[in-house]
Amino acid sequence: MNNAMRMSKAMKVHIRQLDRQSRKHRRQAAELLLENPELWPAMEIARAVINTLLSPNRVCLCAFDEKDTVVGLVGGLPDYDGIVWELHPLVVKKANRGHGIGRKLVKALEKEASSRGALTIILGTDDLNGSTSLSNVDLYDNTGGRIANIVCRKRHSYEFYLKCGYTIIGVIPDANGIGKPDILMGKSVIKKPRTQLTALDGGKFEKGREAKKGR
Ligand SMILES: CC(C)(COP(=O)(O)OP(=O)(O)OC[C@H]1O[C@@H](n2cnc3c(N)ncnc32)[C@H](O)[C@@H]1OP(=O)(O)O)[C@@H](O)C(=O)NCCC(=O)NCCS
Repeated sequence: MNNAMRMSKAMKVHIRQLDRQSRKHRRQAAELLLENPELWPAMEIARAVINTLLSPNRVCLCAFDEKDTVVGLVGGLPDYDGIVWELHPLVVKKANRGHGIGRKLVKALEKEASSRGALTIILGTDDLNGSTSLSNVDLYDNTGGRIANIVCRKRHSYEFYLKCGYTIIGVIPDANGIGKPDILMGKSVIKKPRTQLTALDGGKFEKGREAKKGR
């Protein structure tokens, strides 16, 4: 899809932190999670997730429509002394999907985490129902090769994250039961050019170093 088409289907939303004082917005945020019972099966669970996201150091950004109703949310959790942030959860109201809100929420979290010192954003996206070629296989065998050659069989959110600039950086085999992995993805939010890093693959780089040492 080109940019013009993307703009035409985009929905105007305002993204800001969820206000812990607003019971209405906290309830709407929990209801949003509840729309996905496979992930958050009960209201108490959804409420607990929202409360956790509102604890110190964490971030909970919500997308509000023109009526100031919560139509999407993204959470962020710092790790590695704040250098790495985990994006979790991400959800857009069913009726409002496909209008660019998910992409905007991801961008907003990246900006917020980066302003707090993050260099890397990571996330996990589960494959519970054989949507990708990473399911129902032995992921301890040829792990890198399987990741490099992933095939999407059914619509899966890893494709959404690819479109947001994320790369598959690993897998957690059997994370959700045998053959049901979590697909780990990451993105750099470093502002400066990555001058110290080499694009050469590890093998070639090491061989070069060995050759120099031998001389
Ligand atoms: C995944 C989710 C957040 C996407 O939100 P959204 O607002 O519909 O996404 P956007 O409109 O910003 O989509 C951006 C692009 O990703 C694509 N996309 C969106 N959801 C996708 C999915 N589940 N699978 C594959 N591609 C997807 C869109 O088609 C769009 O592509 P385009 O730019 O080529 O048109 C939303 O579908 C959702 O809430 N799903 C349920 C919860 C969930 O699965 N969260 C992620 C768990 S890790």
